[in-house]
Amino acid sequence: MILSQRNQDLSTFSSNLLPRHVAIIMDGNGRWARRRGKLRIVGHQAGFNAVRRAVHFAVNYRFDALTLYAFSSENWKRPDKEIDSLMQLFSHALNNEIDVLHKNNIKLRIIGDINRFSGELQKNIHRSEKLTSNNSGLTLNIAANYGGRWDIIQGVKQLATQVQQGILTPNQIDEDALCKCICMHELAPVDLVIRTGGEHRISNFLLWQIAYAELFFTDVLWPDFNDVIFKRAVNTFMKRERRFGNSASI
Ligand code: IPE
Ligand code: IPE
Ligand code: MG
Repeated sequence: MILSQRNQDLSTFSSNLLPRHVAIIMDGNGRWARRRGKLRIVGHQAGFNAVRRAVHFAVNYRFDALTLYAFSSENWKRPDKEIDSLMQLFSHALNNEIDVLHKNNIKLRIIGDINRFSGELQKNIHRSEKLTSNNSGLTLNIAANYGGRWDIIQGVKQLATQVQQGILTPNQIDEDALCKCICMHELAPVDLVIRTGGEHRISNFLLWQIAYAELFFTDVLWPDFNDVIFKRAVNTFMKRERRFGNSASI
């Protein structure tokens, strides 16, 4: 299936205000399953269908980038059984979806510390990233074993190495220098963060990158996330006045 690159509804939005980069904390899979008397993994599987819908939406609305929080640095605290099934789902999704992503000109990137994943999964990730690296459509970032604090620390380590090698002096370390070492620095800034599942927190997702992002929270559980809610989030974003520290216009 080739996703439609043309957006039928684009005229309903004033396109200069559309977000370019949307990030989503996909929460609520477990509760979705529990409400149906099913195992948590069933919720994660249903969540995968919601990922497909969200990617389709992002392509249709011509976002530059969509960043999805799939597994946090802290999610290793979960029972082994759940982690194993999440890893299997991740591998399965990579194997089965990569051709569709590639055919749709989508560039896939995994952000996070992938060293903790199995060798096979790491190989698969590298292969998928390489295959799609020259694509010019949507950039799809999957945050896996990602933590906002980890991201900042890995950036600081890069800077420390540069100082050690004499490439940089400590005085030259400024926002710009650190920014260049943080995940996704080459992409449009994150405009909008959506969190499903009813919690009003960031849970160590992007920290540096969302300094001025707009936040949208919904009680909808991730497997139920659809175009109607995505559109509501985008519409809400478009009504906000982003001031970046400036004085209010009214
Ligand atoms: C989000 O859903 C998916 C992951 C964190 C992997 P949860 O599994 O956290 O679902 P709830 O919050 O327990 O309902
Ligand atoms: C955040 O959800 C992580 C992902 C969606 C991958 P969690 O379910 O892990 O967050 P907390 O524990 O409720 O803060
Ligand atoms: Mg959760």
